[in-house]
Amino acid sequence: MVLRIIAITAGFALLLSCGGITESNKTISGAELYQSNCASCHGGDGKLQAAGAKDLSISMMSDDECSLIIRNGRGGMRAFGNELSEAEIKAVVEHVKTLRK
Ligand code: HEC
Repeated sequence: MVLRIIAITAGFALLLSCGGITESNKTISGAELYQSNCASCHGGDGKLQAAGAKDLSISMMSDDECSLIIRNGRGGMRAFGNELSEAEIKAVVEHVKTLRK
């Protein structure tokens, strides 16, 4: 009985510490940021073109132009500069480039 309680407590502590580790090591994933912020208009593959969005798989934008439009928005696309950090914008730009053929 006592052993069982110890085992349960230890298991719980292990779970907690694992959660803590993933939280502190959380890396910025461009793919995840893209899915949650951009895919609604551009689609997972960049080709959706909802709400007049440009097809990102054929976009020829440089990294700088791409981060500028994400930061400040343009036309039907809103600005993301207030909610994404520079590092996050950079990660999203890297992901956008993987959508190109
Ligand atoms: C509300 C819909 C919407 C969302 C959400 C959105 N976009 Fe856009 N995006 C657009 C529209 C519309 C355009 C065309 C803007 C224009 O030139 O008038 C565009 C254009 C672009 C372009 C320029 C492509 C080119 O070659 O001209 C890039 C790059 C881009 N979006 C990236 C992103 C990224 C990255 C995100 C997420 C951070 C995102 N967009 C989120 C609607 C959206």
